[in-house]
Amino acid sequence: MAKEYKLKDLSALSLKPGEMQEVEVEGVESGKVLLINAGGSIQAVGSKCTHYGAPLVKGILTASGRITCPWHGACFKAKSGDIEDAPALDSLSVFPVAERDGAVYISGEEEAIKSGRRKPNFQCRAAAASKPQEQKVLVVGGGSGALGVVDGLKENGYEGPITVISSEGYLPIDRPKLSKALSTDPDKIAWRDGAWYKSGAVDIVDDEVTGVDFAKNAVHTKKGETISYSKLVLSTGGTPRRLPLQGFKTLGNVFTLRTIDDTKKIVGAVGDKGKKIVIIGSSFIGMEVGKALSSGNSISIVGMEKVPLERVLGEEVGAGLQKGLEALGVKFYLSASVEKAEASAADASKVGAVVLKDGTRLEADLVILGVGVAPATAYLRDNSAVSLERDGSLKVNEKFVVEGLKNVYAIGDIATFPYHGPGGDGRPTRIEHWSVAQNAGRAVARDITHPKEAPWSFIPVFWSALSGQLRYCGNASAGWDDIVIQGNPAEGKFVAYYCRGETVLAMSAMGRDPVLAQCSTLMYENKMPSKSQIVGGLDVLTVNVN
Ligand SMILES: Cc1cc2nc3c(=O)[nH]c(=O)nc-3n(C[C@H](O)[C@H](O)[C@H](O)COP(=O)(O)OP(=O)(O)OC[C@H]3O[C@@H](n4cnc5c(N)ncnc54)[C@H](O)[C@@H]3O)c2cc1C
Ligand SMILES: *[C@@H]1O[C@H](CO)[C@@H](O)[C@H](O)[C@H]1NC(C)=O
Ligand code: FES
Repeated sequence: MAKEYKLKDLSALSLKPGEMQEVEVEGVESGKVLLINAGGSIQAVGSKCTHYGAPLVKGILTASGRITCPWHGACFKAKSGDIEDAPALDSLSVFPVAERDGAVYISGEEEAIKSGRRKPNFQCRAAAASKPQEQKVLVVGGGSGALGVVDGLKENGYEGPITVISSEGYLPIDRPKLSKALSTDPDKIAWRDGAWYKSGAVDIVDDEVTGVDFAKNAVHTKKGETISYSKLVLSTGGTPRRLPLQGFKTLGNVFTLRTIDDTKKIVGAVGDKGKKIVIIGSSFIGMEVGKALSSGNSISIVGMEKVPLERVLGEEVGAGLQKGLEALGVKFYLSASVEKAEASAADASKVGAVVLKDGTRLEADLVILGVGVAPATAYLRDNSAVSLERDGSLKVNEKFVVEGLKNVYAIGDIATFPYHGPGGDGRPTRIEHWSVAQNAGRAVARDITHPKEAPWSFIPVFWSALSGQLRYCGNASAGWDDIVIQGNPAEGKFVAYYCRGETVLAMSAMGRDPVLAQCSTLMYENKMPSKSQIVGGLDVLTVNVN
């Protein structure tokens, strides 16, 4: 039951447009709301981001009423609390604000004030069931892209049937946690539980798609089913690469990391700690899993680049991140090539060492490969109706519709899409990040429910848990010609701007919140300062986002 609750603070009365403040609610234990003046009217919404709970008051608010979370860039509409941008899924609760006798009140339910969040409504199920079913959305894959499609359809009032076919064996999980916390229980990191999908009539099918008949609008599965669609969304993600070198395909205790099945095997092999672990690949997965396992084990990371993540973040930032992990005891073998894996003396079926081309021999109880992924599109390889890009991905247009096909979308790690962020110019780009897949899913949902609307272009954001929290927005695939760094990457406190000419293509940061939220907002509003302004000492946090 909705009730009135008094706020402990009168600040609502003095908030100026574009300002926000967190205020405690009387009579609700640890109840807090975020008061916002969006366009002249005062609103109260949930105070915590529905992704990982960041205090939204520390984020960025535009005069148009868009709040960006300080941690990983999720956006909400201040007026409605609606989610606008991944990685959060739930929207914020909204509470009407009233002023009376010199006091400020909100009205709402105690539970909603406590949680501050609401899941998408499943409206009018009964009515929908009796309607002629014109649409049938079929999603292939149970990852981030699929979550974006399903939640997006529900938010937009889609009432037709939705089927999700996933070969992963459990409900969609928070995949980024796998390399950060080595989670092994899918129920603990599932974003939505089975009851939620059921109540929304979302049918989750445990099966694998083996082929698509685009002419007949149907997919074929491993279990022998044929499932039809009116709209098909392909979001099958990536298959981790293995090394085509001696020993790596035959020896046990050599692992990749993409699913719960993988973390279970890794955690099992690590056992009581004290293990020698060789990680091949100094990109995000390798660095994160190295950090996650660093306490109690001896970790060696082997990389081809001069410093980890050099290609993505540049040499100085990469060197700083290396220092951060070295401080945790991680050893690096860089500018290195792997020759082979050798069997263990104790058990010839398992790995015992990794040998580098320069002769270095690294003893290993287990090996983890973080050497990239290939788009998981094997089920389309021999399909004459579609041609895969050279990397195995599908080329899509601004609305994520697959080139040459109707009613078929591709999103996430398998999609090469026209990039329209800073310096993008529509360049075909494939970005393997959690929020990008989910936002593309939302864009597809929007196109299904509102086909006449212009395509939505979002600013890519990602994060990584290294010696500190790394945050990044934009994309530098146009190629940077300079990197402007403020602060010191080796101390885990910096902002780096990747520039091409005067354009800031992208930025990375650590220990400098909310600079990511500020920059992603400025990029979204097309107001990112130029390189010269930044070199001239401009603090981006002082730039007006409106
Ligand atoms: C360990 C790890 C950590 C990560 N950490 C981060 C991070 O911190 N930040 C970040 O931005 N990104 C991170 N990423 C990347 C991010 O998870 C991916 O970019 C994102 O999951 C892509 O979403 P997707 O929907 O394209 O694919 P996925 O999430 O991989 O989902 C693909 C789904 O399709 C299913 N599938 C595949 N083939 C078939 C088939 N033929 N039939 C039926 N189902 C099929 C799979 O089982 C899976 O359920 C991480 C990735 C990994 C592996
Ligand atoms: C930018 O896009 C390219 C593809 O064009 C991709 O390879 C790269 O990983 C992206 N960079 C980041 C940091 O997301
Ligand atoms: S906590 Fe807000 S986006 Fe992650």
